[in-house]
Amino acid sequence: MRNVLVTGGSRGIGLAIARRLAAAGFGVIAVARRESEAFRAARELDESAGRLHFRAFDLGEVDAIPAFVKRLRDEFGAIYGLVNNAGLGTEGLLATMRNSDIEALVRLNVLSPVVLTKYVVRHMMADGQGRIVNVSSIIASTGYNGLSVYGATKAAATGFTRSLAREVGKLGITVNAIAPGFIATELTQTLSDESRQRIAGRSALRRLPETDDVAAMVEYLLGDGGRNVTGTVLTIDAGNTA
Ligand SMILES: NC(=O)c1ccc[n+]([C@@H]2O[C@H](COP(=O)([O-])OP(=O)(O)OC[C@H]3O[C@@H](n4cnc5c(N)ncnc54)[C@H](OP(=O)(O)O)[C@@H]3O)[C@@H](O)[C@H]2O)c1
Repeated sequence: MRNVLVTGGSRGIGLAIARRLAAAGFGVIAVARRESEAFRAARELDESAGRLHFRAFDLGEVDAIPAFVKRLRDEFGAIYGLVNNAGLGTEGLLATMRNSDIEALVRLNVLSPVVLTKYVVRHMMADGQGRIVNVSSIIASTGYNGLSVYGATKAAATGFTRSLAREVGKLGITVNAIAPGFIATELTQTLSDESRQRIAGRSALRRLPETDDVAAMVEYLLGDGGRNVTGTVLTIDAGNTA
């Protein structure tokens, strides 16, 4: 069975990815700080439940990442896919944002996935195959008032994707980014209904994308159809940026 590590797999977009990949036959290792009710329910109800695993880990503990990856390798064997999805969505006007909040955002959204990828890709290189998907955002290229630091971290994800794709392509590893538009999850819960409707109204399809749309794209990138797709940023925003 091909194993896929999905960070932030306990809820929101990550949980949708975990459930969809398990249903498609992958062994899924979901990582987050806490196992959520929603994840537990999926493990009890989904037919693919036997392929859904959860391992608690705080990805902000960057120094502990090498040992964590080693433990996963020892327990599960080869890791075929890595989905860097965990992220913070802290809003704030730059002029008044606390430095500690800026640092936490950059740590979890940039430093942590880069270091995690370093330790996972080493094994992929030895295995001669692998698929990496980084979850960015349309904010990386559009901008949004109050999301300058978040936008910086999401632009980092696409920059990382393109260069790493060049670096590891010759070893049979693909690296892609997905840029979702606004999706209703805990991360965007502070967004008012009015803002939600405004964003939907501005989108070509007059609606917002959903978590499972992102999951379907990840499944595609990890499947046969994605074998010659690398170094790209795939947008899923119901036409918000069209
Ligand atoms: N929702 C949107 O509109 C949207 C749009 C574009 C891009 N995105 C991106 O999509 C990704 C997922 O977003 P989402 O909306 O699904 O967010 P979410 O519902 O807030 O879920 C975030 C996930 O990350 C985990 N996480 C947070 N801090 C962590 C830490 N220190 N260590 C380990 N895991 C941690 C959370 O679990 P714990 O809290 O238990 O650790 C949870 O599983 C993010 O990268 C986000 O930037 C979201």
